[in-house]
Amino acid sequence: MTRKLTTAVAAVGVTALMFSTAACNSSRDGGSESSSGASGAAAKFDKSSLIGISMPTKSLERWNRDGAHLQDKLKSLGYTKTSLQYADNKTDQQSSQIQNMINQGAKIVVIAAIDGTALTPVLQTAATKGVKVIAYDRLINGSKNVDYYATFDNYKVGQLQGNFIKDKIGTNKVNLEPFAGSPDDNNAKFFFSGAWDVLSPLVKSGQITVPSGKAPKNNDDWKSIGIQGWTSDAAQTEMQNRLNSFYTGGKKVNVVLSPNDSLALGIAQALAAAGYKAGADYPVLTGQDADLANVKNIQAGKQSMTVWKDTRALGDQVAKMVDQIASGGKVDVNDEKTYDNGTKVVPTYLLAPVVVTKDDIKTKLVDSGFYKASELGM
Ligand code: BGC
Repeated sequence: MTRKLTTAVAAVGVTALMFSTAACNSSRDGGSESSSGASGAAAKFDKSSLIGISMPTKSLERWNRDGAHLQDKLKSLGYTKTSLQYADNKTDQQSSQIQNMINQGAKIVVIAAIDGTALTPVLQTAATKGVKVIAYDRLINGSKNVDYYATFDNYKVGQLQGNFIKDKIGTNKVNLEPFAGSPDDNNAKFFFSGAWDVLSPLVKSGQITVPSGKAPKNNDDWKSIGIQGWTSDAAQTEMQNRLNSFYTGGKKVNVVLSPNDSLALGIAQALAAAGYKAGADYPVLTGQDADLANVKNIQAGKQSMTVWKDTRALGDQVAKMVDQIASGGKVDVNDEKTYDNGTKVVPTYLLAPVVVTKDDIKTKLVDSGFYKASELGM
């Protein structure tokens, strides 16, 4: 275990290094400026201008942290006028909130989209008024009026989950249940593909069985197991149904691929209701976000890992983008080929996600200040 842990930490270090090197290179060779942005020429405005921040919902812990941190970071850079809005997971509400930001004279809007395809009309208005658009965490699809994208490497998130499972099961034959994220969220496809590229060969070889039959035939079929709106309740119901229908006569589930923490929370509840207890026979259960309730579940042995995306780093990067756009300078990006939104490839800055298990909650989440030791009873 110690050896595995050291390797994992070393791997994280290398990935972080690779990412920072990529970022440096792209700045050095001039590849960091995107002239492919929707409105072409660089904008210039002063720091008293309004910056809009549009977040999907308050109901998930991470978006509250994201919004608050980005706002604070912008303030610390001198951008005192910000409008931070949450859209209650309603696409109409998000469109009208963005419209209001534009009406109030916002120069840049940062958007974590609910449904990446639903914003085309309001983004057209933004472009007409010269407002720059940064897609935050989730890509905005179907519109050419998206200037930049900043996110964590979404495919890598899934890969980390898949490899974690692969490592844990070794050569054992297991029963696995796969879940995927909200069908309207562009990220969900990347999470699933990253994990399924690792796991589907094991399904084909027969090492992994999916008793419910809910194994997508290929990556493109991921929506068939998507949980609309990423809700814990829907994940719980789905897991309960699968357990009741396909795990009769003493059959046990050994692994659950959950793309994020909100789903993992519901799945853990369904497992508890079906009598699964923390311990050696508890299924391997993955997650993402390092939400507080899930980190507590990891401590209690009810979740095996989470993929931590330090939202402070994402906020810092996006605040830097805002500042670079405002000053008319080069905007750092490190991926100009992966994120095609159906009308263009959006210049992107990718950050590296990190696996957290019970053994390294302290070193990764507490020592970095993401959580206080007291919040985790440590
Ligand atoms: C984010 C995840 C989050 C999920 C549900 C995704 O777009 O990347 O971090 O768990 O949405 O909010």
